[in-house]
Amino acid sequence: MSSETAKIILNGNEYELPVVEGSEGEKAIDISKLRALSGYITLDPGYKNTGSTTSAITFLDGEEGILHYRGYPIEQLAEKASFLEVSYLLLHGDLPNKQQLAEFEGNIRYHSLVHEDMKRFFEFFPSNAHPMGILAAMVNSLSTFYPKSQDPHRPARDVERTIHRLIAKMPTLAAISYKNNLGHPIMYPDNRLGYIENFLYMMFGLPTEPYEVDPVVADALNKLLILHADHEQNCSASTVRIVGSSQSNLYSSISAGIAALWGPLHGGANQEVIEMLETIRNDGGDIQKWVDKAKDKDDPFRLFGFGHRVYKNFDPRARIIKKACDEVLKKMGVNDPVLDIAKRLEEIALKDDYFVERKLYPNVDFYSGIIYRAIGIPTRMFTVMFALGRLPGWIAQWREMVENKEPIGRPRQIYTGATKRDYVPVEKR
Ligand code: SDX
Repeated sequence: MSSETAKIILNGNEYELPVVEGSEGEKAIDISKLRALSGYITLDPGYKNTGSTTSAITFLDGEEGILHYRGYPIEQLAEKASFLEVSYLLLHGDLPNKQQLAEFEGNIRYHSLVHEDMKRFFEFFPSNAHPMGILAAMVNSLSTFYPKSQDPHRPARDVERTIHRLIAKMPTLAAISYKNNLGHPIMYPDNRLGYIENFLYMMFGLPTEPYEVDPVVADALNKLLILHADHEQNCSASTVRIVGSSQSNLYSSISAGIAALWGPLHGGANQEVIEMLETIRNDGGDIQKWVDKAKDKDDPFRLFGFGHRVYKNFDPRARIIKKACDEVLKKMGVNDPVLDIAKRLEEIALKDDYFVERKLYPNVDFYSGIIYRAIGIPTRMFTVMFALGRLPGWIAQWREMVENKEPIGRPRQIYTGATKRDYVPVEKR
């Protein structure tokens, strides 16, 4: 709590509300008693000015373009840490020591297989099913194989195992959906490999020939997953929290988060960006034409990968990914014309008053697809990659909500429909 208070005057009555101050100096008016005191609620569609919780997981400053996981700057973690190290950090609050990391990696490796019965589910999806639809369904179905995972208040070791199972199985489920899509044989995990390398092996390996993981690809993927690992109360994390707040199990809560992430305004934007850049290229590369369309209120076209609810400056993740784009494509000898279009598009937009006035900058999705494409990930799998990266963050948010015994999420509303009226029999209408 802060010593500061907020005073509001309603109907001639003055109400004093407490102010909460966070560890980074952020402040909020605590309105939890407002309705009981005054009969009024607040209204904030899209929760643009409303905090849903206090959290110790991720700090971001949209004006300054700052992003920290448990206090560690994202720039340092992306450069120096492994994705499982960052997953441990998000879940437990501190970076693991050698023994803790080895134990965590061992637990994840141990659970990388999925129940053989799950393979049948994949056969019944249409061959062109979008992998996000498959992933959301398969993650939810995991709860039917592990009834103990139903109760989030089981002993800590059960919850820990439930978490390890999910982090271990998600890459396997993602790779199976990809192989299924291609009609290729499933590759079982090879637990001699690391987490990232195992995923690449299950995605691109074939039973007919050996598969060597390219360290450049593995490093790029490690960086991308770290950059996506958490982002405080974004749409999908808030979805995970509100579904989990009903004491639904972790797997169902994460499945709901996957569904929310799929939207083109959220994680689905990384697929939209590449499709947008290819459309611009196929349309002759007239970038100004498409920037003008994005500005035209009568045109539904938006510049995907641009703009952000919180960042009103450069998304720090976009800076890192843009730099990594050049490095990875150069190391791999890939020349992707779409990257040039992306850079020109960014340059034109950032000089255009429409984008400058609205503080619209490239976000995490603007360049990520170019790296995914360079390392061989198909466009329809881009949002699955976002979900793989965001998984530890979602789980950390869910666990914080459970451990803080937060109440079931149930917002209020202001009713604007018909006032009371009596039923009229159909013959008299
Ligand atoms: C992610 O919240 C998170 O943290 C999300 C995320 C995470 O890590 O979890 O960072 C991941 O979802 C990144 C965002 C990916 N989405 C896109 O790239 C889709 C394109 N972006 C927009 O749809 C939009 O910018 C949002 C959805 C990201 C943010 O929308 P807001 O905060 O509701 O802002 P808004 O729609 O009210 O826009 C403000 C103004 C509007 O114009 P005016 O009504 O003021 O005239 O900016 C315009 C908008 O029309 N605008 C755009 C635009 N984004 C906003 N105009 C053209 N192109 C765009 N991309």
